[in-house]
Amino acid sequence: MAGIGATAACAPAAGPATPAPTAEPGNGPSTGAGLQPAPASRAPRPVANVSDIPVGGGRVFPDLRVVLTQPARGEFHGFSIVCTHDGCELNAVADGTIDCPCHGSRYAITDGSVVRGPARTGLRTYPVAVDGDEIVLL
Ligand code: FES
Repeated sequence: MAGIGATAACAPAAGPATPAPTAEPGNGPSTGAGLQPAPASRAPRPVANVSDIPVGGGRVFPDLRVVLTQPARGEFHGFSIVCTHDGCELNAVADGTIDCPCHGSRYAITDGSVVRGPARTGLRTYPVAVDGDEIVLL
């Protein structure tokens, strides 16, 4: 079975320490802010099990530089982990948003659009598909 979806998400965060901005290795399609390249991969690769992504939420995969969300059952989206405001790594998904710990930007889990600034542009989206029980980054 295969389902395809691509989105972005963000979550609010506010912390005393500002994580260092990050850049993503690799390259790929961009549909969001476009500050960072897509994860370094050209061939489809499994990144998570479907059961790893909560319905109505998502999960950050720091090692893979990707945030996967599932706004509705069976609807999966992939987003860059890099905040479009100043490049910090997004670190949480909560209450329908993907959150940045640096200055509190939040992005919608449905499409990566900005829900709360200071970010002004949405997250870069990565195409994903479901292959059996696995979510594959295309
Ligand atoms: S770097 Fe994310 S809100 Fe500033």
